[in-house]
Amino acid sequence: MLSIIVAVAKNYVIGKDNKLIWNIPADLKRFKKITTGHTVIMGRNTFLSLGRVLPNRKHVVLSLTDIDCDDENVVIVDDIEKLDEYINKDEENFVIGGAMIYKLLMPKADRLYITEIDKDFDGDSYFPEISKDEWKEVSREHAPQDENDFRYDYVIYERKEK
Ligand SMILES: NC(=O)c1ccc[n+]([C@@H]2O[C@H](COP(=O)([O-])OP(=O)(O)OC[C@H]3O[C@@H](n4cnc5c(N)ncnc54)[C@H](OP(=O)(O)O)[C@@H]3O)[C@@H](O)[C@H]2O)c1
Repeated sequence: MLSIIVAVAKNYVIGKDNKLIWNIPADLKRFKKITTGHTVIMGRNTFLSLGRVLPNRKHVVLSLTDIDCDDENVVIVDDIEKLDEYINKDEENFVIGGAMIYKLLMPKADRLYITEIDKDFDGDSYFPEISKDEWKEVSREHAPQDENDFRYDYVIYERKEK
Protein backbone atom coordinates (compact mmCIF):
# COMPACT_ATOMS: atom_id res chain seq x y z
CA MET A 1 0.00 0.00 0.00
CA LEU A 2 1.25 3.46 -0.92
CA SER A 3 0.48 6.51 1.25
CA ILE A 4 1.51 10.12 0.96
CA ILE A 5 2.49 12.23 3.95
CA VAL A 6 2.90 16.00 3.59
CA ALA A 7 2.33 19.37 5.26
CA VAL A 8 0.53 21.77 2.92
CA ALA A 9 -0.21 25.50 3.16
CA LYS A 10 -3.66 26.85 2.28
CA ASN A 11 -2.33 27.86 -1.17
CA TYR A 12 -0.81 24.36 -1.68
CA VAL A 13 2.78 25.54 -1.08
CA ILE A 14 5.01 22.87 0.49
CA GLY A 15 8.50 24.40 0.36
CA LYS A 16 10.88 27.10 -0.80
CA ASP A 17 14.56 26.95 -1.85
CA ASN A 18 14.53 23.18 -1.12
CA LYS A 19 13.54 23.77 2.51
CA LEU A 20 10.41 23.63 4.62
CA ILE A 21 9.09 27.14 5.34
CA TRP A 22 7.49 26.54 8.72
CA ASN A 23 8.62 25.04 11.98
CA ILE A 24 6.01 22.72 13.47
CA PRO A 25 7.72 20.41 16.00
CA ALA A 26 4.47 18.53 16.73
CA ASP A 27 4.07 17.72 13.03
CA LEU A 28 7.65 16.44 12.76
CA LYS A 29 7.02 14.25 15.80
CA ARG A 30 3.86 12.89 14.18
CA PHE A 31 5.77 12.28 10.91
CA LYS A 32 8.35 10.28 12.85
CA LYS A 33 5.68 8.25 14.66
CA ILE A 34 3.75 7.42 11.48
CA THR A 35 6.74 6.58 9.25
CA THR A 36 9.13 4.81 11.64
CA GLY A 37 9.60 1.15 10.75
CA HIS A 38 8.31 1.71 7.21
CA THR A 39 9.78 2.37 3.78
CA VAL A 40 9.94 6.06 2.84
CA ILE A 41 10.06 7.11 -0.83
CA MET A 42 11.41 10.50 -1.90
CA GLY A 43 13.04 12.47 -4.69
CA ARG A 44 16.70 13.44 -4.71
CA ASN A 45 16.02 17.05 -3.64
CA THR A 46 14.06 15.98 -0.57
CA PHE A 47 16.74 13.41 0.31
CA LEU A 48 19.41 16.10 0.13
CA SER A 49 17.28 18.55 2.11
CA LEU A 50 16.92 15.99 4.94
CA GLY A 51 20.70 16.10 5.32
CA ARG A 52 20.79 12.68 6.98
CA VAL A 53 19.33 9.19 6.81
CA LEU A 54 16.21 8.95 8.98
CA PRO A 55 16.62 6.23 11.62
CA ASN A 56 14.67 2.96 11.37
CA ARG A 57 13.33 3.58 7.90
CA LYS A 58 14.33 2.12 4.53
CA HIS A 59 14.85 4.99 2.07
CA VAL A 60 13.98 4.68 -1.59
CA VAL A 61 15.39 7.74 -3.37
CA LEU A 62 14.24 8.44 -6.92
CA SER A 63 17.04 9.92 -9.00
CA LEU A 64 18.79 9.67 -12.35
CA THR A 65 21.92 11.14 -10.77
CA ASP A 66 24.73 9.21 -9.13
CA ILE A 67 24.23 9.92 -5.42
CA ASP A 68 27.19 9.24 -3.21
CA CYS A 69 25.59 7.31 -0.36
CA ASP A 70 26.63 3.88 0.89
CA ASP A 71 24.14 3.62 3.76
CA GLU A 72 22.56 0.14 3.78
CA ASN A 73 19.13 1.72 4.39
CA VAL A 74 19.25 3.82 1.23
CA VAL A 75 18.54 2.58 -2.28
CA ILE A 76 18.66 4.83 -5.34
CA VAL A 77 16.04 3.99 -7.99
CA ASP A 78 16.15 5.56 -11.47
CA ASP A 79 12.71 4.57 -12.74
CA ILE A 80 9.30 4.66 -11.02
CA GLU A 81 8.31 1.52 -12.91
CA LYS A 82 10.89 -0.31 -10.76
CA LEU A 83 9.42 1.01 -7.49
CA ASP A 84 7.40 -2.15 -6.80
CA GLU A 85 10.66 -4.10 -6.46
CA TYR A 86 11.73 -1.93 -3.54
CA ILE A 87 8.54 -1.36 -1.53
CA ASN A 88 6.87 -3.76 0.86
CA LYS A 89 3.51 -4.71 -0.61
CA ASP A 90 2.28 -6.21 2.68
CA GLU A 91 2.44 -2.95 4.58
CA GLU A 92 2.14 0.83 4.28
CA ASN A 93 4.91 2.64 2.36
CA PHE A 94 5.18 6.41 2.61
CA VAL A 95 5.88 8.92 -0.13
CA ILE A 96 7.53 11.81 1.75
CA GLY A 97 8.14 14.31 -1.08
CA GLY A 98 8.89 16.54 -2.68
CA ALA A 99 6.72 18.31 -5.25
CA MET A 100 7.88 16.27 -8.27
CA ILE A 101 7.52 12.93 -6.52
CA TYR A 102 4.12 13.75 -4.98
CA LYS A 103 2.83 14.66 -8.46
CA LEU A 104 4.32 11.50 -9.96
CA LEU A 105 3.02 9.09 -7.32
CA MET A 106 -0.32 10.64 -6.28
CA PRO A 107 -2.15 8.61 -8.97
CA LYS A 108 -0.75 5.40 -7.38
CA ALA A 109 -1.46 6.39 -3.76
CA ASP A 110 -4.28 4.93 -1.65
CA ARG A 111 -4.15 7.25 1.37
CA LEU A 112 -3.03 10.83 2.09
CA TYR A 113 -1.87 12.11 5.48
CA ILE A 114 -2.15 15.86 5.06
CA THR A 115 -1.22 18.44 7.66
CA GLU A 116 -3.45 21.26 6.42
CA ILE A 117 -1.99 24.61 7.45
CA ASP A 118 -4.57 27.38 7.58
CA LYS A 119 -2.33 30.08 6.10
CA ASP A 120 -0.91 31.01 2.68
CA PHE A 121 2.88 30.88 2.29
CA ASP A 122 5.26 32.22 -0.32
CA GLY A 123 7.13 29.28 -1.89
CA ASP A 124 8.28 27.52 -5.04
CA SER A 125 7.10 23.92 -4.53
CA TYR A 126 3.45 22.89 -4.56
CA PHE A 127 1.30 19.87 -3.72
CA PRO A 128 -1.22 18.80 -6.39
CA GLU A 129 -4.91 19.64 -5.89
CA ILE A 130 -6.78 17.03 -3.83
CA SER A 131 -9.82 16.30 -5.97
CA LYS A 132 -13.00 15.61 -3.99
CA ASP A 133 -14.05 13.33 -6.86
CA GLU A 134 -11.11 11.03 -6.15
CA TRP A 135 -10.51 11.43 -2.40
CA LYS A 136 -12.76 11.25 0.63
CA GLU A 137 -11.86 12.74 3.98
CA VAL A 138 -11.92 9.97 6.60
CA SER A 139 -10.59 11.84 9.62
CA ARG A 140 -9.75 15.37 10.76
CA GLU A 141 -8.04 16.33 13.98
CA HIS A 142 -7.51 19.97 15.00
CA ALA A 143 -3.97 20.31 16.27
CA PRO A 144 -3.59 22.26 19.51
CA GLN A 145 -2.47 25.87 19.09
CA ASP A 146 1.32 26.09 19.31
CA GLU A 147 3.78 28.99 19.14
CA ASN A 148 2.98 29.55 15.44
CA ASP A 149 0.57 32.28 14.26
CA PHE A 150 -1.56 29.78 12.34
CA ARG A 151 -3.73 26.75 13.05
CA TYR A 152 -3.45 23.38 11.34
CA ASP A 153 -5.41 20.14 11.05
CA TYR A 154 -4.22 16.56 10.63
CA VAL A 155 -6.42 15.20 7.86
CA ILE A 156 -6.53 11.71 6.36
CA TYR A 157 -8.01 11.10 2.92
CA GLU A 158 -8.61 7.74 1.28
CA ARG A 159 -9.08 7.05 -2.40
CA LYS A 160 -12.76 6.68 -3.34
CA GLU A 161 -13.85 3.35 -4.77
CA LYS A 162 -14.14 3.52 -8.55
N1 LIG B 1 5.79 20.22 3.17
C1 LIG B 1 6.22 18.96 3.14
O1 LIG B 1 5.66 18.08 3.83
C2 LIG B 1 7.38 18.60 2.26
C3 LIG B 1 7.83 17.27 2.21
C4 LIG B 1 8.93 16.98 1.38
C5 LIG B 1 9.51 17.96 0.62
N2 LIG B 1 9.03 19.23 0.69
C6 LIG B 1 9.64 20.31 -0.12
O2 LIG B 1 9.60 19.96 -1.49
C7 LIG B 1 10.68 20.65 -2.15
C8 LIG B 1 11.45 19.65 -3.01
O3 LIG B 1 10.63 19.19 -4.09
P1 LIG B 1 11.21 19.03 -5.57
O4 LIG B 1 10.07 18.82 -6.49
O5 LIG B 1 12.15 20.15 -5.85
O6 LIG B 1 12.15 17.74 -5.47
P2 LIG B 1 11.90 16.19 -5.17
O7 LIG B 1 10.54 15.78 -5.65
O8 LIG B 1 12.27 15.91 -3.75
O9 LIG B 1 13.05 15.52 -6.06
C9 LIG B 1 13.08 15.74 -7.45
C10 LIG B 1 14.10 14.81 -8.06
O10 LIG B 1 13.60 13.48 -8.08
C11 LIG B 1 14.14 12.78 -9.18
N3 LIG B 1 13.07 12.31 -10.03
C12 LIG B 1 11.95 12.97 -10.42
N4 LIG B 1 11.21 12.20 -11.26
C13 LIG B 1 11.89 11.03 -11.39
C14 LIG B 1 11.63 9.83 -12.11
N5 LIG B 1 10.53 9.68 -12.89
N6 LIG B 1 12.51 8.84 -12.02
C15 LIG B 1 13.63 8.95 -11.27
N7 LIG B 1 13.94 10.07 -10.57
C16 LIG B 1 13.06 11.10 -10.62
C17 LIG B 1 15.01 13.77 -9.94
O11 LIG B 1 16.33 13.61 -9.43
P3 LIG B 1 17.62 13.72 -10.39
O12 LIG B 1 17.66 15.16 -10.80
O13 LIG B 1 18.75 13.28 -9.53
O14 LIG B 1 17.37 12.79 -11.55
C18 LIG B 1 14.45 15.10 -9.50
O15 LIG B 1 15.36 16.16 -9.64
C19 LIG B 1 11.52 21.27 -1.04
O16 LIG B 1 11.19 22.64 -0.90
C20 LIG B 1 11.10 20.51 0.19
O17 LIG B 1 11.28 21.25 1.38
C21 LIG B 1 7.99 19.56 1.49
